[in-house]
Amino acid sequence: MSNEEAELRVQELTAGYGGPPIIDQVSLTARRGAITAIVGPNGAGKSTLLKAVAGLIRPTAGRVFVEGKEVTGQPTETLVRRGIAYVPQVENVFPDLTVRENLDMGGYVRKSGVRERIEQLFLLFPDLRASAHRRASTLSGGQRTMLALARGLMVDPAVLILDEPSAGLSPRFVGLIWERIEQIRSTNVAVVIVEQNTRETLRHAQWAYVLVLGRNRLEGTGHDLLENDEVVDLYVGRLS
Ligand SMILES: Nc1ncnc2c1ncn2[C@@H]1O[C@H](COP(=O)(O)OP(=O)(O)OP(=O)(O)O)[C@@H](O)[C@H]1O
Ligand SMILES: [Mg+2]
Repeated sequence: MSNEEAELRVQELTAGYGGPPIIDQVSLTARRGAITAIVGPNGAGKSTLLKAVAGLIRPTAGRVFVEGKEVTGQPTETLVRRGIAYVPQVENVFPDLTVRENLDMGGYVRKSGVRERIEQLFLLFPDLRASAHRRASTLSGGQRTMLALARGLMVDPAVLILDEPSAGLSPRFVGLIWERIEQIRSTNVAVVIVEQNTRETLRHAQWAYVLVLGRNRLEGTGHDLLENDEVVDLYVGRLS
């Protein structure tokens, strides 16, 4: 992948929680209009990588670029202004606020156009319009995930980073979430996603990285990795 196309470029990023590094010199790039997936076993450091990119923890080495401009070590709010939206694995909505209030808060860095943006997002997530005045805590798991995605999109991000959006959801909702993610991708957003279901994730990913023990292990098109023996043996399983 050529670097000019990369919306997000992560170069040899090292980060952790004060002890030994959890991710060690990890590199990746993500293009607009593409789904870039990060897969790997539990504890590989996938969430830590996303947190380091999104400014929730400070990398100890390496660099992060958005649209070619370096943003390494910037706080989350600055990164949001630079076009990075991050939807964490848990606690990604305010349960005591209504759907609309959550979206209003999601748009806090916008100078204008909050109402218009909410209207656009209601077209993409019709369920949310119907639930606009309900508290987020009363939504189903699937609806709450939709709200978390919509909140992330309030700032019109260039890069949308998603940590296991379908965790804990029923298969019906998992399919719906992928449909929405494909729609988001088609609006020219660079989607970066971590998911547990490796097979389904690789099917959707234009490009994917396998992270093992905090390091880059493999990368390729989702399609190619689905055929890779190591990936199949470790994470996908063979269809007998
Ligand atoms: N806040 C934290 N403080 C200290 N260590 C942490 C913290 N969060 C995660 N870790 C450690 O970092 C390592 C990687 O965790 P991380 O959550 O990044 O992995 P993951 O690939 O996202 O795993 P999973 O698939 O289970 O979500 C683990 O050993 C974990 O115990
Ligand atoms: Mg994780």
